[in-house]
Amino acid sequence: MLSAASSRFESVPVAALSPWRLSVAPMMGWTDRHCRFFHRLLTRHTLLYTEMVTTGALIHGNAAQHLHFNEEEHPVALQLGGSEPADLAACARLGEQRGYDEINLNCGCPSERVLRGAFGACLMGEPKLVADGVKAMVDVVDIPVTVKHRIGIDRVESYDFVRDFVGTVADAGCKVFIVHARNAWLKGLSPKENREIPPLRYELAYQLKRDFPALTIAVNGGITTNKQIEEHLTQIDGVMIGREAYHNPWLMTEWDARFYGAPVGAEALTREAVEQRMVDYMERAALEDGAPWYSIASHMLGLRHGLHGARKWRQVWSDHRLKPLPAREVWAMAQAHVGKVEEGALAEV
Ligand SMILES: Cc1cc2nc3c(=O)[nH]c(=O)nc-3n(C[C@H](O)[C@H](O)[C@H](O)COP(=O)(O)O)c2cc1C
Repeated sequence: MLSAASSRFESVPVAALSPWRLSVAPMMGWTDRHCRFFHRLLTRHTLLYTEMVTTGALIHGNAAQHLHFNEEEHPVALQLGGSEPADLAACARLGEQRGYDEINLNCGCPSERVLRGAFGACLMGEPKLVADGVKAMVDVVDIPVTVKHRIGIDRVESYDFVRDFVGTVADAGCKVFIVHARNAWLKGLSPKENREIPPLRYELAYQLKRDFPALTIAVNGGITTNKQIEEHLTQIDGVMIGREAYHNPWLMTEWDARFYGAPVGAEALTREAVEQRMVDYMERAALEDGAPWYSIASHMLGLRHGLHGARKWRQVWSDHRLKPLPAREVWAMAQAHVGKVEEGALAEV
């Protein structure tokens, strides 16, 4: 029997569903283009976000390199970090020209305010500045400009704070908000702790949807199962998944059928087939831009999460002594462990 969440859209064409229905979160050091290529093999329709790229890096650094991505990654959104409206506008244009499907502004990562070039959650304390930045971007690009933010900063717990932030930024032209449903504590917690310690309050994201029904609101934070995704989708337009998608990527192989109603292919996707495609990709990337296989393999170490032999398989793909070998040889060595029961161990959970 179909659940409430799936039965609502089963006859809706994928193109008619919200582009923000499911997404993989921007994650620095993780969701680079190789990682996104891997994730795209597992889900066709989920929106993928880049790592945050600061406006400074794009304006003063090697923009072409920062913006490089594989055509297969679409739909793919560029996340910017910055606060100067003119810089944001210039970088949004670069992103659009390069072919990104969306520009997202990071108002959620817990960095302390610095004099110039502030980015992240501290911007929630300056909604007018964010609104100016959004307006500057909306004025120069045709692709959607979206904002990812928290529900509050430091000990500001009131709903009014995030409601007023969203209201001000929406007035400037942002129609899509991705809400990491916990506060950012700007002092005293590391970025990692800031993803774990401030309590999750999904109800505030739901309330935003009720108060701004014309906006697209997606929720993020601590979501780890398809059942949870399904439940959130009964309340809100979209769900963004971060760490679970990275560590347990096979979860995503259900998403196209379950959340987009996409027909299941004649042949079921297998981990072996995905790994083979990744080895092909490693060879291609080495030829095209000299990317070493281990910079790619590091993103697929969760592929066998929970299966027999996963630990040994992972050890091969992350063994630095094998770096001089071609990817295909490393693959053959890794395959030797697939499905083997490790001594004293049940399948990993
Ligand atoms: C390693 C790592 C790097 C991250 N980098 C970014 C980033 O660049 N931009 C951003 O908005 N959020 C970043 N985040 C936060 C995630 O996008 C997401 O909001 C957070 O992990 C909560 O979602 P989750 O519980 O599903 O992982 C990062 C998270 C992790 C684990």
